[in-house]
Amino acid sequence: MVKLSISALLLCATHLVAGHGYLKSIVVNGQTYMAWQVGQDDYVTPTPERYARKLADNGPVPDFTTKDITCGRGGNIPAARSIELKAGDKVEFVWDQWNSAHSGPVFTYIAQCANNDCKTFKGDTGNFWVKIDQLAYNPSANPPWASDFLRERGAKWSVVVPTGLAPGEYLLRHEILGLHVAGTRMGAQFYPSCTHIRVTQGGSTKLPSGIALPGSYNPDDKDGILVELWRIDQGQVNYTAPGGPVWTGAAPNVNRPGP
Ligand SMILES: *[C@@H]1O[C@H](CO)[C@@H](O)[C@H](O)[C@H]1NC(C)=O
Repeated sequence: MVKLSISALLLCATHLVAGHGYLKSIVVNGQTYMAWQVGQDDYVTPTPERYARKLADNGPVPDFTTKDITCGRGGNIPAARSIELKAGDKVEFVWDQWNSAHSGPVFTYIAQCANNDCKTFKGDTGNFWVKIDQLAYNPSANPPWASDFLRERGAKWSVVVPTGLAPGEYLLRHEILGLHVAGTRMGAQFYPSCTHIRVTQGGSTKLPSGIALPGSYNPDDKDGILVELWRIDQGQVNYTAPGGPVWTGAAPNVNRPGP
């Protein structure tokens, strides 16, 4: 009886929901950088210095039309550290787990921090977010959905920082979109995260303007957000992921080819 209530309390305290997931670490050039550890870092003093912005829990953003969509629910608080890397380096995102059948696309966006200072940059107003990576649905691949592919390769995903990108501080916004209950309005489940990077060597390429988050994920988008997964799976409708096309200046997708 006592044991039961303690576990119930622990579950409440950590907000961990089975089947969901969060960005746990980032691997660059063989080195592992820790993201915010959901359910642990909140209880550690002094606050651990991480490379990705705090997340309140491992669940989806409750309302993707609010500022929670920018960097996840957790207050969009700048991380203490930035990963130093070069333009053209590969960044591997490692989720704590992704065991659920939350089929959908996987994206990564980049935004340059204003004044090259991510410590003061929120990115929640303005067209800052440039899509540099996307996989969605490929009926001739196995598995067809990108998030299921991410699960099968051990909850990992890679992106290459655009070759020739100008040095400076940027946020990498990596995200899974679960569509399993997306047929209900506002049912689409977005799981974003924001990692701080400092490009120390690169070229002179500046990012174009991108999309605004919040603002660009429309609850009534019947091609990418308000969709019935089974209709797509059965080939009755085509799927077009939200957030627009991948920037032509992005490096090729290194996860697998195809849509
Ligand atoms: C989906 O797109 C393909 C290629 O453009 C097209 O041939 C097909 O008719 C479309 N399917 C539906 C259900 O709209």
